[in-house]
Amino acid sequence: MKDTVILVVTGSVAAFKAAQLARRLMERGLLVKVAMTTAAERFITPLTFEALTGQPVLRAGFPQPGEAPMEHINFSRGARLVVIAPATANTMGKLAHGVADDSVLSMLLASGLPVMVAPAMNTQMYKHPAVQSNINTLAGRGVTFIGPSSGSLACGEEGEGKMEDAEVIAAAVMEKLGGEKDLAGVRLLVTTGGCQEPIDPVRYIGNRSSGKMGVAVAQVAAGRGAEVVLVAAHMETGLPEGMRVVRAHTAMEMQEAVRKEFAQCDILVMAAAVADYQVENPATGKVKKKNSMRLDLVETPDILAGVAMEKGGRVVVGFAAETEDHLASGRKKLMSKNLDLIVINDVSRGDIGFGSDYNEVTLLTRDGKKIEIARASKDMVAGEVLDQAATIWRDSRTVEQPEAS
Ligand code: CTP
Repeated sequence: MKDTVILVVTGSVAAFKAAQLARRLMERGLLVKVAMTTAAERFITPLTFEALTGQPVLRAGFPQPGEAPMEHINFSRGARLVVIAPATANTMGKLAHGVADDSVLSMLLASGLPVMVAPAMNTQMYKHPAVQSNINTLAGRGVTFIGPSSGSLACGEEGEGKMEDAEVIAAAVMEKLGGEKDLAGVRLLVTTGGCQEPIDPVRYIGNRSSGKMGVAVAQVAAGRGAEVVLVAAHMETGLPEGMRVVRAHTAMEMQEAVRKEFAQCDILVMAAAVADYQVENPATGKVKKKNSMRLDLVETPDILAGVAMEKGGRVVVGFAAETEDHLASGRKKLMSKNLDLIVINDVSRGDIGFGSDYNEVTLLTRDGKKIEIARASKDMVAGEVLDQAATIWRDSRTVEQPEAS
């Protein structure tokens, strides 16, 4: 079951960034429920958050006769923590003094949950002794503050008071939840990008892979504590940090890198679009233009199938790029390449897959499990792939190492 967090949005111009934050939290596998003060609704509508999160929004007004009377109590039930972002001086002041003059503040007092606060306001307001005193009071009660950072503020001034980036807040929330390091101790080898096979020193045969899906797997895994090695072919995205990156441009280079790294990994996720053919004899000099040209292509080795045949206790995950008969073709690759898990993509669709930040996939496991993931960010898909792969890996270890009696 997903962890739930409550995101309280208050009346600051930074409220729009709360929409990004909701997304970042969801991408990390959390269920997000939003509560909004009256002032927040002047900047962004409850509908925006309902559409983003798929959850009803708690609004500030107290219930009218006939409406659910205990919503401020029930709303936070089952949640793990509250994050107030952006948090105004006004809301922080009320919270510090136990004011509960609307449903959102009442919910905050009634929740009993850990509270994280990302302040957003003008520098002078932030530095005001009353605000600082409220911050100290809240911090003394165990409230965690994230930021504010410094920069140019909406009021035109420069200084402290800017709400922290959504990414930073989301990382702090994950750290607080302690769920982020569930892959600590797992050694993950990920391949990504598209191989380019040279025709001559300036031309090549390539494919449309952007590398985003494999990078998402590598980044999400590193964020969850895994030790990651990324073998990267041509990519349209930057190289990620926090992991060792090995460059491999052609199928042969990728095979060499994967074979070398495979021995030291627990899980291989082969997201690269490996070229199926290479030019038999690439020219050493630039080929001059002529009326027509023939290229002799020879098959490249199937890297994945090769290593999976000798995988021992490792978990091997493949991707299947399909345009028709997706499931049948994917299942065939799962079995014939000796994989534990396959991620089946429909690469004929323009709104997902190549170059997109989104994907929609079906996962098939060797033991017959089928998981359909509706259109979601590649980070979200990566999280699900990692969950499944890690489960298979842990289960196989439990079988291999029965508990001592
Ligand atoms: N793969 C590989 N080596 C190759 C070709 C593919 O390791 N020479 C891997 C890919 O990285 C992917 C999986 O095999 O994880 C399936 O790739 P895909 O292109 O869908 O299938 P192919 O085996 O190439 O078959 P086809 O192109 O005919 O669908």
